[in-house]
Amino acid sequence: TQTKQIGTPRPSIHFAPRRHWINDPNGLVYYGNRYHLFFQHNPEGDTHGNMSWGHATSCDLVHWQEHPVAISHTEEEEVFSGSTVFDEANSSGLGNAQNPPLVAIYTSAYRAERRQAQSLAYSTDGGRTWARYHGNPVLDRGSSDFRDPKVFRYTLGDGPYWVMVAVEAAARQVVLYRSDDLKSWTYLSSYGPAGAVGGVWECPDLFPLPVDGDAEQQRWVLLISLNPGGVAGGSGTQYVVGQFDGIRFTPDEPLETLSGEREPLEGLAWLDWGRDCYAGVTFSGLPLHERILMAWMSNWDYAHAVPTTPWRGMMTTARRLTLRSIGGRARLCAEPVLPPGRVAEELAPCTLANGESLVVQLPDVARIDFRIRALETASVELRGSDGSVMLTFDGASGRIHLDRRSADVMGHPLYPSIDTAPSLTRGSMLDATIVLDTGSVEIFADQGSRNFTDLAFLGEARVLTMHAVAGSVSVDELRVLNLEAR
Ligand code: FRU
Repeated sequence: TQTKQIGTPRPSIHFAPRRHWINDPNGLVYYGNRYHLFFQHNPEGDTHGNMSWGHATSCDLVHWQEHPVAISHTEEEEVFSGSTVFDEANSSGLGNAQNPPLVAIYTSAYRAERRQAQSLAYSTDGGRTWARYHGNPVLDRGSSDFRDPKVFRYTLGDGPYWVMVAVEAAARQVVLYRSDDLKSWTYLSSYGPAGAVGGVWECPDLFPLPVDGDAEQQRWVLLISLNPGGVAGGSGTQYVVGQFDGIRFTPDEPLETLSGEREPLEGLAWLDWGRDCYAGVTFSGLPLHERILMAWMSNWDYAHAVPTTPWRGMMTTARRLTLRSIGGRARLCAEPVLPPGRVAEELAPCTLANGESLVVQLPDVARIDFRIRALETASVELRGSDGSVMLTFDGASGRIHLDRRSADVMGHPLYPSIDTAPSLTRGSMLDATIVLDTGSVEIFADQGSRNFTDLAFLGEARVLTMHAVAGSVSVDELRVLNLEAR
């Protein structure tokens, strides 16, 4: 394994800060015709510390402009993860009727004691500058692990009122509160421990989505990030589909509590089967059923060893979420928001006989769409000057494997991995979109129903090799887009 500092090129269609450490996306809000991304940031260093909210905005979720730090750490507190809402009715009184505020609800992680409580900051200039509320914290349970508030406006039933979903991380519980003014909060209910509990619970989100686009069949999705204990090892995100009645979240199917270090593949529902999709949450300020998620593209297992410089850490592509019935269950699907790009290569349908390969040159920032059928085994290798990853499709079981052991420039023992996504339909067809940028490979298979998000350092001059490993492979579609071309 070589250790190498990766400075240029910077990721082109992923957000990375100009310099220094980042982790979770925070306060995602669509406001003033812009997507605002705040993020966990150490403005002074390349390791986790001095946590503050950095800030960037975008018109298209692809190209980001970084702004000065929005909420800075102080002597008393670090500013941990949370969310932002547009308080249109000025229910908080932190703005005024003519100029209602943006309100950030974040976790105060006090330095002097191990205590975490929820606090407010507000902006009356569209997110440019932020002031702390003088009455902070607004919700304190005297807990050392109470964090990551996601606040949304609940408008059904007895609504409208604000609902906060947060975690008691060590107890593996999601806790729900309600408020009329964002300042005083009343306990509603808790959920958990249930499902995957092999690590602390972090960064929850709760939102409604129609099943198969049918608004009459709305379900609620509870996202729970978990570290460690994710399906691929280390940090991961599980989700639960159920009902929220304004007070309580009830899962559609009762979940067994599993506590393995590495959770079983089948049975639980995972947002992603790769290693680098953590702390994902969704934007507020969009129409009810428009759900866009961004996550931190890293894993606490080795985040401090990510060899990029002068920045450390980046976000995943933004993903549009939908619920689709697949194999008798409502599954959460995630498809990337990408620039249109320009077609660089398009192959006519063909068949690869057992042992045959085809090779395609790739642009630096590429989208690859393909559809193949294989009764036995097909592989897709992505190789660059520094390494390669191998995607293997087993047509008999329908499973997909991603091996990135040859894309390691990190030299960290927990980095090399082979991960597996189960088959949801047991078909011999694989339909996938691969997104390649500096330092990452994202695979969205079968309309985003089983995805892998992985850091992978491939270097330059990349080529794709599709190979019929066993049996023949029908290549029904193979198209490469250059995503840097406008
Ligand atoms: C998740 C997390 C959150 C916390 C933040 C601190 O990665 O541990 O629970 O608020 O990071 O930076």
